[in-house]
Amino acid sequence: MSTAWTSRYAQRTKNVRSSAIRELLKITQNPKIISFGGGLPAPDVFPVERFREACNRVLETNGRLALQYSPTEGYEPLREMIARHTSRYGVKAKPEHVLITSGSQQALDLIGKLLINPGDRVLVEAPTYLGALQAFNVYGAEYVCVPSDQDGLRTDLLEEPLRSGPKFMYVLPNFQNPGGTTLAEGRRHELVLLADRFGIPIIEDDPYGQLRYEGEHLPPLVVLDRENLRGDKGYSIGNVVYLSTFSKTLAPGLRLGWIVAPPDIISKLVQLKQGADLHTSTFGQMVAYEVARDGFLDEHIKLIRRVYGERRNVMLDALAEFCPPEVSWTRPMGGLFLWVTLPVGMDCHRLFDAAIKENVAFVAGDAFYAGNGYAHEGLRHLRLNFSNAQPEQIREGIRRLALAIKNQMAGLHPEPVGD
Ligand SMILES: Cc1ncc(COP(=O)(O)O)c(C=O)c1O
Repeated sequence: MSTAWTSRYAQRTKNVRSSAIRELLKITQNPKIISFGGGLPAPDVFPVERFREACNRVLETNGRLALQYSPTEGYEPLREMIARHTSRYGVKAKPEHVLITSGSQQALDLIGKLLINPGDRVLVEAPTYLGALQAFNVYGAEYVCVPSDQDGLRTDLLEEPLRSGPKFMYVLPNFQNPGGTTLAEGRRHELVLLADRFGIPIIEDDPYGQLRYEGEHLPPLVVLDRENLRGDKGYSIGNVVYLSTFSKTLAPGLRLGWIVAPPDIISKLVQLKQGADLHTSTFGQMVAYEVARDGFLDEHIKLIRRVYGERRNVMLDALAEFCPPEVSWTRPMGGLFLWVTLPVGMDCHRLFDAAIKENVAFVAGDAFYAGNGYAHEGLRHLRLNFSNAQPEQIREGIRRLALAIKNQMAGLHPEPVGD
C-alpha cells in the first residue's frame, strides 16, 4: 500500500504556494521572450575572473579549512568585513552583531521562525516583497497592510495599524521591491519614532541600498534608531534588525546574506539556523571574502551602478516613448525594478497572456499584496525588472509591452462602430 503523503503534510504547508516569479522563470526560458520578470542581476557584470582567482587562492592557501564544517555565525573575517562596512553608515557594528545567512531569503525565514506564532500579524507595505510573504506564511503569519506612495510607506497611516498590535513591521526603505520607491528621509525618522513609541520592532530589508543611480544616500532605519535611542553603548539594544545580501552586488548564486542585530537576537538566530543548515557554505564565504577584499567590492559596485543606471534610463525613455498617456510608472532612484500602473479596468493577468504572445514578460502586480483587501488594486499593476536585459532588448521589450497594452485598451473601450 502506498502512503497517502498529502494527508500527512503538516498544517503549515497549507499556506505554501510556489511563487509567481519562480513559475514565470519556467515560461521565460523561451529565448524569444524578452523577460522583465525575475529580479535577476545582469550576468555580464558578474566578476567571473575575480571569482576564479579567489577560488584558487582559497584552495591553495586554506583548502582544508574551506572544505570543513565551520561555526554557524559565519566566517570571522567576512563578519568583520561586514561589520566594518555597516559601521561606515553609522551603526557601530562588531562581528558579534553579524550572522551570515544563506542569502537574505534565509534571514527572512529565520526571522519568521524567531518571531511568528500562527495567527500573529506582521505589518507590511502594500505592495511588498513576495519572498518575504512566502517565508512568513509558513509560520502562519497574518498581515496588516499599509499602503505606499512615491515616497514609500505612508507613515501618516501607521498609528492605527500599530495600535492593533502587530508582532513586527517588515519594511524595504531603499528602491523597494516591487515598487522601486524610496522611503523619504522624514518618514524614516517618523517610522523609528513610532516603532519606539509603540514598542514594535522593525525588520529592515536592504538588498539594494548600494545600488543608487541618482540622489544622496539616505540613513538606514537601524542608524536612525541608534540615534533616537542615543545608543553610543554599541549595538546592544535596538528596535531594528537589518538584513542585506551579496546577491545584487556580487552574485546571487553565492547564496550569501547577513543579519545585523543586537547580540542576544543573534544568539537565538544562531540556534535556529543550526536546525536549518548548520552553517552557510564555508567555501562560499571564504571565496566571497577573497573576492570582496582590498576595495574590489566598492569598485565593482561602481560598475554595476553605471550599467544598471543606464538600463533604468533606457526603460524609462522607452516607456515614455511607447506607452499611452493613461499608463504611469514609478521613477526608481536605484535598485532593479519599476512599477507600472495600468488604466482603470485593465487586468494584468489578461495583459500577461497578450504580452506573452508578443514575446515579452513581466510579473503581475497582485502577487505582491498580502491582504485580500488589495486583490483588486494589484490587478492594475506590473513589476518590470531593468537589470537583466541588454539596453536594445529593453527598448524592444517595452515597445512590445506597450503594443499589448494598447490592444487591451482598445478591447476595453472599442471604437464606436458607425451605421
Ligand atoms: C527585498 C528582497 N529581500 C530579500 C531577497 C532575497 O535575496 P537573496 O538572494 O539574498 O536571498 C530579495 C531578492 O530579490 C529581495 O528583493
